[in-house]
Amino acid sequence: MKKYITTSLETHLFFGRIMKEHALFLQAGFPAGEMAYINKANWYRTEFEKVLWQTVRLADGTVGKDVLCSGEVFTEFTVMAEQQTGRLTKIPIDFRITQAEKKLQAGCGECGDGRMALQIRQLNQRVLGLLRGLIMFKEQILQQVTSCRLFTANYPLLIEHIIREAKLYQQIITTLEKNQCISSENMLKTEQFWNQIMMEHALFIRGLLDPTECELVETADKFAGDYCRLLEEARQQDCRAMNGLTRKTLETTKKYCDFKAAGTKGITGCDIRSIILPLLADHVLREANHYLRILKQEGE
Ligand SMILES: [Fe+2]
Ligand SMILES: [Fe+2]
Repeated sequence: MKKYITTSLETHLFFGRIMKEHALFLQAGFPAGEMAYINKANWYRTEFEKVLWQTVRLADGTVGKDVLCSGEVFTEFTVMAEQQTGRLTKIPIDFRITQAEKKLQAGCGECGDGRMALQIRQLNQRVLGLLRGLIMFKEQILQQVTSCRLFTANYPLLIEHIIREAKLYQQIITTLEKNQCISSENMLKTEQFWNQIMMEHALFIRGLLDPTECELVETADKFAGDYCRLLEEARQQDCRAMNGLTRKTLETTKKYCDFKAAGTKGITGCDIRSIILPLLADHVLREANHYLRILKQEGE
């Protein structure tokens, strides 16, 4: 039960925010006249904002220090990125959630509490309901965009990418609700999943940077190549070689986190020319930090 409570809350802290931001990126990417799509994206954004608020309330004293310190829940740039993105998109962003997250204490105070377990079960069910709808909405957008009936500033690959992230969230919560363990034999699959996500981030970044940012475009291309090779190697090699591959992935991802942190600093500091929203830069940094924590945990 202890594991059920902490893992649920840690998952919502990371993915609840990710979903809220996906909805914001979708909302900001539609033409001004697409009111039905804008309103629907806005609805999911506010629903996941509520989920995140409730998670923060329940998480104080009940989540792990490694998660809070990993930079996957918030980074040093998050509040700034939220304020700037709110100003630029005219979409209100409640950065008090981030401020509250910064004050969260680690621990396992009420983890054995039956009332707490009930609250978590209700929260998980609510999230599963929202996720079903959000995934359908994203799939509908992808379908309309790829059949040229709808325009958005987001790449079709980005929409596919955020569908896969939402499905992973759904899978984790479903597993928790079935009282099953998240087994480590899935690690190979997890690594393949996140290596692809990391590769695609590099491809998005290179495509959203101003063409004059040659050096950054080149570095982004290099990371896309690195992750592409890691994916290929994993496909070719057998399990015995996996440890070496995980080490290589860990080294690449450490450097990648530094690159993304520098990028987020540059974008929030207005030192980089691009069409990247500050919050998108911080978002992909947090996803890399999340992956880095998983990789380190696996190495222990
Ligand atoms: Fe994402
Ligand atoms: Fe992503």
